[in-house]
Amino acid sequence: MASVTNKLIIAPSLLAADFTRLGAEAEAVEKAGADWLHLDVMDGHFVPNITFGPLIVKALRPATKMPLDVHLMIAPVDPYIAAFAEAGADHISVHPESGPHLHRTLQLIRSFGKKAGVVLNPATPVEAIFHVLDLVDIVMVMTVNPGFGGQAFLPSQLAKIVALHRLIDDSGREIALQVDGGITPATARQVLSAGADTIIVGTAIFGQPDYASAIAALLAAAPLPRPALNAGIG
Ligand code: DX5
Ligand code: ZN
Repeated sequence: MASVTNKLIIAPSLLAADFTRLGAEAEAVEKAGADWLHLDVMDGHFVPNITFGPLIVKALRPATKMPLDVHLMIAPVDPYIAAFAEAGADHISVHPESGPHLHRTLQLIRSFGKKAGVVLNPATPVEAIFHVLDLVDIVMVMTVNPGFGGQAFLPSQLAKIVALHRLIDDSGREIALQVDGGITPATARQVLSAGADTIIVGTAIFGQPDYASAIAALLAAAPLPRPALNAGIG
């Protein structure tokens, strides 16, 4: 499809922020040029780590104008969609493995007027989204196993990004292609060359002394000319 914008979207992952001052951290990355705020929700069951729930999403809502990009790593997921929607999430992304009826989960997210995303674990095939593409606004490729920040990027996922870029292009729909896990300026260049348009970045932003320089380094790593990108769902 024709790309609506060539803008690269940067979504800092708050998982790597200072948890004693989450509001200030959100404000700081917004001021530094970030586009979306990525919030990792983990339940200690679907993934081997526990983070936070809808109360933190609600508390952060007034702290930023950035869209809140909520990544749910919880199972079952359906009983909590309403709470995250009401807390102020703008985008709600789920893993196909987190419930028996992905189509129903995506319908539920959209029933609240939210953008719906599907997240593919490293072992989850592209085919998992074939028959729900009409309900999807975001596809997220995990380039680490979900659960922790600061892990090493998995280059095996680059072929999946290429395949998804083609699938999204052929669909004619505006679907953001996000990549999550192990993103640095060097790996950003690889995933953007493969066709991603949105990068989720924890350690390589919040682990750096200056957020604006960290974001500038990521932007500078983007290949030029950029591939036909598709990040128009804002
Ligand atoms: C992992 C999370 C990621 C994580 C990325 O389960 O989904 O969003 O915060 O962190 P980095 O960029 O440090 O790999
Ligand atoms: Zn995430």
